[in-house]
Amino acid sequence: MTSLLRRLERPIVAAPMAGGPSTPELVAAVNDAGGLGFLAGGYLTANALADRIVETRALTAAGFGVNLFVPADLDRDRDLGSVQEYADRLRFSARRLGAKLGRVDWHDRDHFEDKVTLLLDDPVAVVSFTFGIPPQAVIDALHECGTEVVVTVTDPDEALAAARAGADALCIQGAAAGGHRSTHDATAIPNEDSWTELLRRCRSIAALPLIVCGGIMTRAQVEFAIRSGAAAVQCGTAFLLTDEAGTSTTARAGLSDRTLTRSAVTRAFSGRPARGVRNEFIEQFDEFAPPVYPVVDQITKPVRAAAAADGNYQWVSLWAGTGWESARTGPAAAVVESLHPTRLVHPQPLREGTGADLD
Ligand SMILES: Cc1cc2nc3c(=O)[nH]c(=O)nc-3n(C[C@H](O)[C@H](O)[C@H](O)COP(=O)(O)O)c2cc1C
Repeated sequence: MTSLLRRLERPIVAAPMAGGPSTPELVAAVNDAGGLGFLAGGYLTANALADRIVETRALTAAGFGVNLFVPADLDRDRDLGSVQEYADRLRFSARRLGAKLGRVDWHDRDHFEDKVTLLLDDPVAVVSFTFGIPPQAVIDALHECGTEVVVTVTDPDEALAAARAGADALCIQGAAAGGHRSTHDATAIPNEDSWTELLRRCRSIAALPLIVCGGIMTRAQVEFAIRSGAAAVQCGTAFLLTDEAGTSTTARAGLSDRTLTRSAVTRAFSGRPARGVRNEFIEQFDEFAPPVYPVVDQITKPVRAAAAADGNYQWVSLWAGTGWESARTGPAAAVVESLHPTRLVHPQPLREGTGADLD
């Protein structure tokens, strides 16, 4: 990553966004605009990911990234009761939408091993990991293939562990971020630290390139990040409504509804904390959701799919960061352009408390 980050014309990474928004077209558009595009491998089978890699290569000659979720072992005996209780609450509402709850698979590992095998057989430039640090053998094998490894972290302890495991760069995710928090312990309550705070605390721990993210929507924020010592910024929400994003019509409508005015971090949809625009589903179920990822995700999936097919954005996950109201429509290249620093910014020591208003 170090070398790839150095080669970037513009220090802007398009965040991997699983569940639809990340497309080969978005990756290519961001690459062509001088940034770094990412495919989201989460929720996909290895074959589906292989197809997307092929499609992306046909659209861009530049290197790109692939993101994977690191699976955790589930404790069925401990969690079955709370999952059943949650399912009972959801069932009645699901029926109203004509949906059944999804089947539970306690052995779901998100095809992690198959996807790693794919990425070793047919390497890409960068692989980033979310929800944890992959096994050491995976990091070593990727390095042997010439692939650079990024680990997403949400606090200094995770940063230290990722650096010790041999990550080439860290993606520091602040609390304003859209989508899932990457807390390595799925049951932990995520902190509320902004990327500015985390950057300040992680810089002394890891002498690695640091990518920062969470609520970054403006050029001023990007300039501040680079001045503060970040190697690049990673933006998700800023690209959600672009032409090339695969964001569903229902999600686009929800994200554009100005009567929805707040975002929230909730386990209601998946069992892991994730930030999205606050809608009826969050209002009704947030307080009851058990911290059992991805089992809660499996249960709610058909409900979300039925709501999406109906154009009902009150019942789908509207994942987005705190800055979603300023997400732009139009080409992704225009978003890269709008974020890119117009003047040369030099890294400076980060003073405590600075820039919090920008985060
Ligand atoms: C719709 C959506 C889906 C996301 N999916 C992923 C994912 O698959 N993998 C991942 O590492 N991060 C994912 N994220 C989080 C981003 O990597 C990043 O942390 C976040 O977008 C940064 O905050 P921002 O959305 O305010 O820019 C997702 C974010 C959004 C908004």
